[in-house]
Amino acid sequence: MARKSFIAGNWKMHKTIAESKALAQAIKEAQNKNNADIMVAPVFTSLNAVAEVLKGSNVIVSAQDCFYEEKGAFTSQIAPNQVKDAGATCVILGHSERRSLFGDTNEILNKKVKAVLAQGLRVVYCVGETLQERESEKTISVIQQQIEGGLKGFTTQDLKDLVIAYEPVWAIGTGKTATPEQAQEVHKAIRNILEQKFDKDFAQQVRILYGGSVKTDNVDAIMAKEDVDGVLVGGQSLVAEQFIRIINYNK
Ligand code: 13P
Repeated sequence: MARKSFIAGNWKMHKTIAESKALAQAIKEAQNKNNADIMVAPVFTSLNAVAEVLKGSNVIVSAQDCFYEEKGAFTSQIAPNQVKDAGATCVILGHSERRSLFGDTNEILNKKVKAVLAQGLRVVYCVGETLQERESEKTISVIQQQIEGGLKGFTTQDLKDLVIAYEPVWAIGTGKTATPEQAQEVHKAIRNILEQKFDKDFAQQVRILYGGSVKTDNVDAIMAKEDVDGVLVGGQSLVAEQFIRIINYNK
């Protein structure tokens, strides 16, 4: 099944508003020879400015997280409707840095997915194992729990725009990339989990991104794998020239 490729940049805690706008402008003007969906996820303070720059373009603007409550006494938190109000149409949920540093459990993420979908926003749901989990051969069971827990209680209709990002924790920011074969193996397993939990059509239609030290010099080989539909890029999404090369990966 042909799935449209999806190239996403997670800017993490980088860039001022002015820097974010400049990078967004460069991406807006860039060539997109594979006709990929392109997404950028700036920090909250730059979200609205980036959305303004990208208005009228096809580049998707995403938040990196949000809270599950609608409003109230939750100092520092941002609600899904506020993300939408800022001009974003997507939220990344379950990034490993959120899971490991800020206590996002599968249960909390399930509430976040629900709240984000209720606002009509798209979800990029991240899964992935630690090195210890990989070495003890728990990769697939950990990912199964992350999918079962985070995506509990939804129909395929609710999740029709869902994107999953497989980011092995040991490959994030370490310079250690999963081999294309390792990525393919896990992506295929994710499709099997989705088929068991939902149905075959859904499993075939969901786009699954690989993330973890994706670079200009490894993107082509990763994107060549059958079940890899895109990439979620950290470090190299911060430099226009590099991210634009990644967008224009060679088939
Ligand atoms: P790096 O590309 O810097 O390894 O980050 C990957 C990532 O966590 C994207 O969400």
